[in-house]
Amino acid sequence: MQDIADAIGRERVALVVDRFYDRIRQHPSLQYPFASVHDWPAHKEILTHFWWVTLGGKRYLDYSYQVAGKHAEAGFTPALLADWLALFREIIQAEIPAGLAAGWLERAERIGQSLTYMHEVAQRRQPLPPALFKPA
Ligand code: HEM
Repeated sequence: MQDIADAIGRERVALVVDRFYDRIRQHPSLQYPFASVHDWPAHKEILTHFWWVTLGGKRYLDYSYQVAGKHAEAGFTPALLADWLALFREIIQAEIPAGLAAGWLERAERIGQSLTYMHEVAQRRQPLPPALFKPA
């Protein structure tokens, strides 16, 4: 698939990220996991870079993402993901022309599936409850 980063442009990626996280901070369910973010300008910069690179743009920050670990710590759940994606869809559709919006949303949905998969694997790794533990 052709990179859509250039067609969207870094300024519009930054705009979407800015609008999205401003709404997250007032969202009925998502504001709680995001209360752990204290430096919002830094978070937005890291997420703008993340999307720019994910959409096919060239890296410009020296930052190593810890997506799996950070979402486990943030209390990721499939229900929160559904809220996250609904809000993301709303912002993208308002800010980005339809053809480009579809490509961006598809990538977000794919990342959402990976996060869900990692969440399920982590859930299965939970230790057995004491009542089920039988020492040899
Ligand atoms: C497809 C959906 C999502 C994508 C693409 C996404 C992407 C990301 C990325 C790239 C980061 C930066 C990670 C890093 O700094 O290493 C991040 C941070 C974060 N995400 Fe998500 N996320 C998604 C859904 C969610 C959901 C549903 C929650 C709700 C729990 C969530 C909560 C957070 C929080 C609280 C942080 C900040 C963590 C920190 O800096 O300590 N995310 N997200």
